[in-house]
Amino acid sequence: MGRAEVFDTAGPQPRHVAIIMDGNGRWATRRGLPRLEGHRRGVETVRQIVEACPDFGIEFLTLYAFSSENWKRSAEEVAGLMGLFRRYFRKEAANLVKRGARVKFIGDRTELAQDIQDMMASLETQSAANEKLTIVIALNYGGREEIARAARRLAAEVADGSRSLDDVNEASIGAALDAPGTPDPDLVIRTSGEQRISNFLLWQCAYAEFLFVDELWPDFNRDAFARALAVFGARERRFGAVAG
Ligand code: IPE
Ligand code: IPE
Ligand code: MG
Repeated sequence: MGRAEVFDTAGPQPRHVAIIMDGNGRWATRRGLPRLEGHRRGVETVRQIVEACPDFGIEFLTLYAFSSENWKRSAEEVAGLMGLFRRYFRKEAANLVKRGARVKFIGDRTELAQDIQDMMASLETQSAANEKLTIVIALNYGGREEIARAARRLAAEVADGSRSLDDVNEASIGAALDAPGTPDPDLVIRTSGEQRISNFLLWQCAYAEFLFVDELWPDFNRDAFARALAVFGARERRFGAVAG
């Protein structure tokens, strides 16, 4: 299976796809398994989707891995998720970096364990010059908090005189967000049938296309991804202009 199959059936491909990977808990509960088993299976889906991106012409993939609200879950689930992140960063992400992928993180990393922060920094540094596929991982991420962080940075520069008030604008706010240089997502996919944004990429989604699919994240796969891209290809984006 390659990109031809998608290009045959669809219009333009998205350059940047962002995914709210939802439904791991339900996948597990329906099978009488602990929620963490759903998260483990979710990592397998991540593997498939990351591998598919280059075939589908996608240059940027943003994955919502842990929201700033997910700390509300049981200590056991949070610890299990952190363990999965550790394993993923140490092995799989490191391998992807060796194969030419760039890894970036968005979110407030200061609240994460020091060893996780160290792995994140090292993945970013080692992959900074890579160009094959950029994987942006949203970890302890909240869209409002990201915008507030950017506002604080700019406000501090205005206060110390290094930035004029006129230089607080869409471009400078965008550049002060967590992953500057990343284009806005063209397509946001949320699995598991929930139709909400859950504090994801609030600034960057201004003109994104949204697609809500019923599959739970562990059931999502390469074929479902191809179908989602075909739906995107059939959409007409207007950006405020008149349909042409
Ligand atoms: C998404 O699956 C993964 C994370 C939020 C970390 P959920 O754990 O939210 O799964 P459901 O929504 O409970 O099924
Ligand atoms: C959003 O899913 C966060 C991630 C997928 C990491 P949630 O399951 O946390 O969102 P809500 O609570 O249903 O809005
Ligand atoms: Mg959920």
